Amino acid sequence: MKRTHHCAQLTKADLGATVSLAGWVDSIRDQGGIIFIDLRDRKGVTQVKLEPNSNADAGARAAQLKPESVIGVTGRVTLRPAGTANPSLATGEIEVDATALEIHNLSETPPFPLDDEGGDRVNEDLRLTYRYLDLRRPKMRRNLEVRHRATKAVRDYFDEQEFIEVETPILFKSTPEGAREYLVPSRIHPGQFYALSQSPQQFKQILMVAGVERYLQIARCFRDEDLRADRQMEFTQIDVEVSFIDREGIYTLFEGMLRKVWQDVLGVNLPVPFPRLSFKDAMNRYGVDKPDTRFGLELVDFTEIFKKSTFKVFASAATGGGAVKAVNAKGLADVTQGELTNLEETAKALGAKGLAFIKVEGGEWKSPIVKFFTAAEKAELTQRLGIADGDIIFFAAAPWEKACAILGRIRLECAALLQKRGKLTIPASQWNFLWVVDFPLMTYDEEAKRFVATHHPFTAPVPEDIPLLDTAPRQVRGQHYDVVLNGMELGGGSIRIHQPALQEKVFKDVLKIPADVVESRFGYLLRAFKYGAPPHGGIAFGLDRMVALLCGTTSIRDVIAFPKTQKAQDLMTQSPAPVAPKQLRELHIQTVTPAE
Ligand code: AMO
Ligand code: AMP
Repeated sequence: MKRTHHCAQLTKADLGATVSLAGWVDSIRDQGGIIFIDLRDRKGVTQVKLEPNSNADAGARAAQLKPESVIGVTGRVTLRPAGTANPSLATGEIEVDATALEIHNLSETPPFPLDDEGGDRVNEDLRLTYRYLDLRRPKMRRNLEVRHRATKAVRDYFDEQEFIEVETPILFKSTPEGAREYLVPSRIHPGQFYALSQSPQQFKQILMVAGVERYLQIARCFRDEDLRADRQMEFTQIDVEVSFIDREGIYTLFEGMLRKVWQDVLGVNLPVPFPRLSFKDAMNRYGVDKPDTRFGLELVDFTEIFKKSTFKVFASAATGGGAVKAVNAKGLADVTQGELTNLEETAKALGAKGLAFIKVEGGEWKSPIVKFFTAAEKAELTQRLGIADGDIIFFAAAPWEKACAILGRIRLECAALLQKRGKLTIPASQWNFLWVVDFPLMTYDEEAKRFVATHHPFTAPVPEDIPLLDTAPRQVRGQHYDVVLNGMELGGGSIRIHQPALQEKVFKDVLKIPADVVESRFGYLLRAFKYGAPPHGGIAFGLDRMVALLCGTTSIRDVIAFPKTQKAQDLMTQSPAPVAPKQLRELHIQTVTPAE
């Protein structure tokens, strides 16, 4: 029995035709001697009717069918009786009156319902254990299709722009500057290891030295990080590098790519150019370098006016080089004690000493610290925060970056509380793209007592800041850029250093990496740069994150066919798993199980 149509294809135009369909039993109903089967394939559902009276053999075999069994049917397309049409189904006006039934495989009863809502209600671990069933759900199938279409749009776009796709090694060497790596023992070289590539960064730069000029790779990357909704240990980047390009060129190129993806996948016409925000402004206004700009609740700085405050906490932060910042959670004065405690916990987890607040109710300012505010301070707060009845204002007094980060989180949590109350709507289909630019090239690592690269050590400084590398390294801006969408970092990249002397200086003098370590880790790159490295720059986009946003889901696990859990396990195949002692011996490895 060879299938002639798929299950979303047949309409009134096919009445009378003899057809064959194949797929899964979506549901089966026995209605007083007549059996109705909703037959499903990846395109949709068609109703099949089986009359045991006229087809005893097929009727008897249909009786053993359970949902998710795989069958084929042949029959005639007939009109459903008046009043029984299903307008929500493409094939809702017809049914197939089966004359033959072929059972390819019976199915056991699935451990959870395979419709969208039913599947959403069950525990994700169960879905991941039976991922092949989970992926049969229309929603999950659609996610895989969106991923395919988005990836194809990306490849088509870069092909039109004369990029070529080049594969780079996954088995790379350890360069422990970035995230923690996965190591792979070498059998042939006892005691030596490969590392799984965290990103093709160094190879794509070498490809520029090799004269490729326009490189693309849909690249798998591996990082041993704590997993979250937007982080997997293996994920996919849209990885690009271009020679003879500046920052403006990169912005235009990627705005074009995102326009094509949004057009091809969602039919949405994104306006360009995207707004740009400096790292400093992003932190000052939103408390984070990946701001969600779909709603206000912006942070306001009061460092100047609180320098003379009688509230010691504010005055000492303001005069001691720190900052005092505030956010007005408009209309949230009805916050419950439990919610307030949660907000305080959030702030404290980020290193806050406390979370001072003012509640404005019945024209009155209610706050444990209101006694410290002068009339002039109150007037300035009211004016700059737009304070009105029903508002609650939160304060953070701390070193600048910490004060920003604390209130940035409070801002997001307050927005969620306001949404819950119906006082704020954040439209899911509003696409607030922006470029965050002018990041500091280096960040001081208090623990390691040295500078570390904010992005990675290959990022070029802004040319006019190069003299500051020796005198005021904190002030050097990098030619780095991030693309942010609705509070999620979608991608990041930079114009690179292409002069070997400058690269060597950054490694040795600024990042203080010892000369022998520089040679063993990056010697090949510095050598390559000595043979005519063109100026170049690039960017990498998180494909999984982009697709998740396109699909309207918050977890990238929903757009990866076989993801790992937060505990870094594959529940379906049960990995990781122990290996045989012989395998370890061959790899010259002994394991030490940590004590309980
Ligand atoms: P970066 O480390 O910023 O840059 O990564 C680029 C983008 O990849 C995505 N991403 C992740 N997605 C899912 N799970 C993860 N664990 C994960 N880690 C990163 C993010 C991020 O914006 N080589 C540089 C790029 C360059 O300079 O060209 C790089 O890898 O969306
Ligand atoms: P205290 O004087 O320590 O009782 O604090 C008074 C109020 O200020 C309390 O609500 C604290 O949570 C809050 N508070 C204390 N330190 C800070 C800080 N660094 N930033 C913001 N609020 C703070």
